[in-house]
Amino acid sequence: MSNFPSDKPVLVTCGLPYANGKCHMGHLRTYVPGDIFIRALRKQGQESVFVCGSDAHGTPIVVNAEEQGITPTELVCKYHEHFKTVFKAMEVDFSIFGNTDSPTNHARTTSIVEALISNGYVYSQTIKLAYCPKDKRFLPDRYVEGICPYCGSVARGDECDQGCGKHLEPGEIRQARCRICGNAAEYREQEHFFFKLSAFKGFLSKYLETLNGTPNAINYAKEWVKDLRDWCISRNLEWGVRFPGHDDLVVYVWVDAPIGYISFTEEWANATGDDWEKYWKRDSRIIHFIGEDITYHHCIFWPAMLKGAGYTLPWAVVASGMLKIEDKKFSKSRGYVVWVDEDYLDHGFHPDLLRYYIVNYTSHTKELNFSWKVFQDKVNNELVGALGNFLHRTLHFAHKNFGGIPEGKVDEEIFEAIQQKIYQVVSYFDEYEFKKATDMMMELAMFGNAYFQQYKPWQLIKTDREMCARVVKNCLQIGKALVLLFETVLPGNMEKAWKQLALDGDVHAARFEDALVELPPAALEAPVVLFSKIEDKKIKEMESILDKRIKLAVSKEKKTKPEEEKPVISFEEFQSLDIRAGTVLSAENIKGSDKLLKLEVDIGEKRQIVAGIAKSHNPSDLVGRQVVVLANMKPAKLFGVESRGMVLAADADGAVLLMPEKKVKDGTRIR
Ligand code: 2FM
Ligand code: ZN
Repeated sequence: MSNFPSDKPVLVTCGLPYANGKCHMGHLRTYVPGDIFIRALRKQGQESVFVCGSDAHGTPIVVNAEEQGITPTELVCKYHEHFKTVFKAMEVDFSIFGNTDSPTNHARTTSIVEALISNGYVYSQTIKLAYCPKDKRFLPDRYVEGICPYCGSVARGDECDQGCGKHLEPGEIRQARCRICGNAAEYREQEHFFFKLSAFKGFLSKYLETLNGTPNAINYAKEWVKDLRDWCISRNLEWGVRFPGHDDLVVYVWVDAPIGYISFTEEWANATGDDWEKYWKRDSRIIHFIGEDITYHHCIFWPAMLKGAGYTLPWAVVASGMLKIEDKKFSKSRGYVVWVDEDYLDHGFHPDLLRYYIVNYTSHTKELNFSWKVFQDKVNNELVGALGNFLHRTLHFAHKNFGGIPEGKVDEEIFEAIQQKIYQVVSYFDEYEFKKATDMMMELAMFGNAYFQQYKPWQLIKTDREMCARVVKNCLQIGKALVLLFETVLPGNMEKAWKQLALDGDVHAARFEDALVELPPAALEAPVVLFSKIEDKKIKEMESILDKRIKLAVSKEKKTKPEEEKPVISFEEFQSLDIRAGTVLSAENIKGSDKLLKLEVDIGEKRQIVAGIAKSHNPSDLVGRQVVVLANMKPAKLFGVESRGMVLAADADGAVLLMPEKKVKDGTRIR
């Protein structure tokens, strides 16, 4: 039995992107499956609405706006428009895309915080906060950097981003420094407001037993609920929603951001004449699509807030796994990023192709690797080779030989095969198994291709026209089913295919069950190819764009990263280094490594040394040159080759070898 359609209305949300930077592939990992899921709901006749919007508040937006010399409002508007444009281009079709700085969200947040206060879930406490005496201000969240009290790593004010990953409460960070002026901060006392999360332990434990969604979200949340800390929900900032009754404070961004889900529903309901309360005050199914890094906020903090203020609780939380780019961890600063506009859409790639890749590469909860080569393979073999090939050959054959869809009945076994596939696809969507759902769709395309091959209509047309018409009709009916199933993933191309099948009405509004309605005879036009192969040349071009970005990021990091300060050493410690001049006797590449060379160096004795200089030096240019060697370096094996010593070089753009001012006897000590 499928979960849908349900008589309860369904609200699907996607985590709100910060209006603080451009849309990249990591974002799409949540929004594309969310869009596919809502399309599948509609195809099952489910009453549903799809909301999202810009997350406009928080310190990074203020810091970024200050750096760009614009107001936070201007910055938010810029990225809000950017996200809207990219989502539209990627066929992610929200019912509304709001903005948490809207009057509706200010009002709804105020009302929820007031409800939490009057229900006794908020208390005030004086805490010690980082304060910059030079800038004369408190330093909330990202305005401060220091040391994580839990693991000792360098951390931001609100999160140990480079160490244990813990959320840090205001005042927790140690050795705080102001991010504006870089000076050491002091700690000053101030009254702040806390949400009594700990009071919800019993409620949350039970709630998580009933919460639907993906196991990665729910299982983590069950662990966290054992140890709940109250959350400080006020901040010393100008930008945000005023904390009720305190003009110098705003509410913490993680309070007003999820409340955006409610306000956007209100705004959508006002615009369409619908009722927002049926989602948020009465029995409904609220399904949150999020990235797994914000599970805590959605499975713990948010349900507690909703419960405390008297709203409907989420029915499911669906968390996507993280993203890798060409097998490396996604990182904007290191260049491992694919921007959706400039790296994909602007190069003429159709949105459908990436949508398919995102859901079909792996299961929704696993790590997704984006690789241009794999992208090319999936497009060429699956979308072009299986789906596109079947649709095109069927439509082309029908047009050429029958001028359209022939008369006659579709075989019962074909309807059965279609029905079974719809059932499997729907069951997998129910479990948020997008990979398996799309694999089932592709299986139907492969079934169609096998059927076409088996009955050889190109031969039948010469011997048995009636039988040929029957085979073609069956294939066209499979085509119709494919279009309806794949509309969820490939809405643009399936809209075209729907027209190629001479079907009336809106394919986006049609139902899966329409696949079992026999195609009426109709004239067909010559079909246009829907999916074309991606050439190797194009993939090379895309890889080289990424490569350049990574190289640029590395060189930028080198330039901007201050050299780590080394401890002072004594003369005795320096004397313990055995540094000598020596002449390179031979040099060769090491098999399997593009960085290492094997050298033989005379430093008064012959030494085999492995040096990481292959990228900057040809082996033949080195022979006969004098170099400087650290002779008492602990021996090591690199790529199976023993190295006894280290050749010294300046770490510039590539290695620059040191050499004595004039030739000296090999083995001469350097002091
Ligand atoms: O982590 C983020 O990108 C947040 N902007 C997500 C907010 S989701 C919701 F709770 F509002
Ligand atoms: Zn830490």
